[in-house]
Amino acid sequence: MTEKHHTAHHQTHAHEKKHEGEWEPKIIGFLCNWCSYAGADLCGVSRYQYPTNIRPVRVMCSTRISPHLVLDIFKAGADGILLGGCHIGDCHYISGNYYTEKRVNLMKKLLKESGIAPERLRLEWVSASEGEKFSKVVTEFTETVKALGPNKVKKDERLMSRVAAADMASETFRLKALVGKELNLVGKGNVYDNKLDPEEIEKIITEATSDEFERSLILELSRTKARSVKELGEIMEVPTDKVLRHIVLLRQNSLIAMEHPEGFTPTYKTIEIGGEQ
Ligand code: FES
Repeated sequence: MTEKHHTAHHQTHAHEKKHEGEWEPKIIGFLCNWCSYAGADLCGVSRYQYPTNIRPVRVMCSTRISPHLVLDIFKAGADGILLGGCHIGDCHYISGNYYTEKRVNLMKKLLKESGIAPERLRLEWVSASEGEKFSKVVTEFTETVKALGPNKVKKDERLMSRVAAADMASETFRLKALVGKELNLVGKGNVYDNKLDPEEIEKIITEATSDEFERSLILELSRTKARSVKELGEIMEVPTDKVLRHIVLLRQNSLIAMEHPEGFTPTYKTIEIGGEQ
């Protein structure tokens, strides 16, 4: 990571006085160096006010923010994440923000699967001259996050395992490849020169996200304890025939192993990479 962690200069505090004990959301703002970070600076210089809940982090381009990083930050307990980039067509690295848009779409799907409100993540294009817009976006987003309440991931084991599964799913080759190829498939077409319908692609990505999430959740839940298909289905609230289909695939890929059956019911345990099984 080459990004430096900064606090935006000249920040004007709108809510200096906070009542003790009153919950205030913690929001991380990843702002691209060329537009949004400069917009935040201008906002401060022009003395527009915005809440102090946001901790700005300067990144070179919005596309540096991976789904893995976003999910990790939510796992650590952040209440909201704002991604600020250059307007479409203005990215300093030409196509970076097109990818950001596609990745945010995937991130929101993964958040929804895990049980974290997708509204806790917001993407906004703010140029260097839009100081006032920056103030408006931060104020609005802070209100949204306040209305959603605190992120309970650290106090809720079930939610934590689902977010960990979403994190694992975001790192699968299939989801990374799908998001990377989406732009080409819609714009240039596939190898046969057939352009795919954006709606069709959206459907494929939604289904792939859900499948990868469920398989990652099986691996997450079976890491410390061998579990039966029925038990997994109940915890995950997924039909058992679907769980079984996932398990067949996970076994084919040597990611999960059948343990000694308990009575007549087989149980499954995740194979730790580098571990004995
Ligand atoms: S440089 Fe700003 S979004 Fe890429």
